[in-house]
Amino acid sequence: MTDASAPAGLNTEEAVKSYYGKTLKTSSDLKTSACTSQPGQLPKFIRAALGSVHDEVTSRYYGCGPVFPTALKGASVLDLGSGSGQDCYVLSKLVGPEGRVVGLDMTDEQLEVANKYIDYHTKLFNYSTPNVSFVKGYMEKMQEAGLESNQFDIIVSNCVINLSKDKRAVLSEALRVLKVGGELYFSDVYADQDLPPGIREHEELWCECVVGALYWKDLYKLAKEIGFSTPRLVTAGIFDIEDKSYKEFLGDAKFVSVTYRLFKLPETSSEDATVTYNGGIEGFEEEFNFDHGIVFKKGEECNVKAGLVSILTHSRYQKYFTICPGEKKGPGKCSKLEKDPFEYCAERGNKKGCC
Ligand SMILES: C[S@@+](CC[C@H](N)C(=O)[O-])C[C@H]1O[C@@H](n2cnc3c(N)ncnc32)[C@H](O)[C@@H]1O
Repeated sequence: MTDASAPAGLNTEEAVKSYYGKTLKTSSDLKTSACTSQPGQLPKFIRAALGSVHDEVTSRYYGCGPVFPTALKGASVLDLGSGSGQDCYVLSKLVGPEGRVVGLDMTDEQLEVANKYIDYHTKLFNYSTPNVSFVKGYMEKMQEAGLESNQFDIIVSNCVINLSKDKRAVLSEALRVLKVGGELYFSDVYADQDLPPGIREHEELWCECVVGALYWKDLYKLAKEIGFSTPRLVTAGIFDIEDKSYKEFLGDAKFVSVTYRLFKLPETSSEDATVTYNGGIEGFEEEFNFDHGIVFKKGEECNVKAGLVSILTHSRYQKYFTICPGEKKGPGKCSKLEKDPFEYCAERGNKKGCC
């Protein structure tokens, strides 16, 4: 999971920089589908934003899932491992001119492509000044990259944290730079087991976002130790490793790409409450999917557990809800915490692109 299972004999930082900076030219150069598995259907307005991103940027997309949470207008967003910038440009459109997006990446060639199209997208979106910037740096050391504490509403990351040898440092830094009530909403690759260190030494499979994957249960442990709320599964999709030699090398290990949301909440405790979604979130006027199991319907009173009450009370979602602490009205809404993502995919009866 963390330092203990990081590959001892591999300089992952240099290998990853060289892979994304020099070896790969476009997404079609990838050897596995880890980086391009795409669970879920996107809403129309997000597909439209995606469709407007410059071709050179999208041709170098290596993400594994959607990183576009709801209620983004005016938000400040940080993208860890922003690559050529595709998600940043979509987010630039979604946060609007009052919001801002910062992409952080360590690889010069990726930053070069991302920076090249700032003016293009600023004009396209009709903004008077750019609301996107790209910063060079390491996600394990965001202070060094000049990212101050408590400044972002949302952090996204798409198929990047698996590439880090020090996932604890990444999540700790993410917690530091988030505002209270902010969230880490990210897609990444997970394994169905704690991979043995020997497997983690495979340089190409590390760079392909496979053998750096956390055992999915370890994310819950890590999140708790660091101080995030319990991770909530949004969507997931299993992908197959097709290459025969990779398959043999990996043995019985299985991999899944999952989108999770984790919140930074104050230490004060909340109690169960009756909450009502009042509408108002762009694209989700009538109902709003909070995670894989919870759908809020506009005007429906429902009973939710303290953990979710705390999220709704302290996050950007607060203004869209009426919250009555201590009351128990309407149907209970909860989703299974620590949901097994492999089980989630199996329940949907497909292996790729489920939900
Ligand atoms: C698989 S690509 C994903 C890029 C982008 N998120 C996308 O969806 O296209 C991984 C990216 O993360 C960057 N990266 C990997 N490890 C990093 C680290 N420790 N700090 C900053 N960037 C990192 C790489 O340079 C690369 O651009």
